[in-house]
Amino acid sequence: MTCLISLSVLLLLLQYPLSSLSANSEGNALHALRSKLSDPNNVLQSWDPTLVDSCTWFHVSCDFNNHIVRLDLGNANISGTLAPELGQLHHLQYLELYGNNIGGKIPEELGNLKNLISMDLYDNKFEGKIPNSFANLNSLKFLRLNNNKLTGSIPRELTHLKNLKIFDVSNNDLCGTIPVDGNFGSFPAESFENNQLNGPELKGLVPYDFGC
Ligand SMILES: *[C@@H]1O[C@H](CO)[C@@H](O)[C@H](O)[C@H]1NC(C)=O
Repeated sequence: MTCLISLSVLLLLLQYPLSSLSANSEGNALHALRSKLSDPNNVLQSWDPTLVDSCTWFHVSCDFNNHIVRLDLGNANISGTLAPELGQLHHLQYLELYGNNIGGKIPEELGNLKNLISMDLYDNKFEGKIPNSFANLNSLKFLRLNNNKLTGSIPRELTHLKNLKIFDVSNNDLCGTIPVDGNFGSFPAESFENNQLNGPELKGLVPYDFGC
């Protein structure tokens, strides 16, 4: 009996630092995110760095193990750029940042968010390329990047995303041809409109980055 109790105490002691460590690295990621954003409407006011548990902050949702699974900051009038540390939120399922004034490049580190189901970055001021690393987001169902200032071609690797249901890159400045492989065969033309894209690629005839 004593042995059993001391074993469970030992297990508790072993577990505690591990879970608090991961919670801290997620909290640190949010601090990094916060530090690069400007927030005139004070929607991030509750993001108090002196509170250890970022699960109590507004617009942040956690699972039962205190891992951050949602960031809901749509239509919040925030500007600035995205910190690469966002890629450390390994349990994140929903990244909702649509309808803001966020600019700069989309960090390639977002390709580390293996549990991500939905990434909504539409209606912002993002520039630069769609990261190739997004091809690692195997859980992704919704990827909306429309109404930004993105350039370059659509990474061909994205055609490997088996779960992707909605893909929208309309109203950007993308070039090259529109992929036809994988789920891209089923995305409507509206998902690609208002770019410098050339219509569905005729494989073997024209390189996919033709016109870039
Ligand atoms: C958004 O923020 C700007 C300041 O950057 C402010 O002038 C404007 O009124 C805000 N818009 C809304 C809808 O709150």
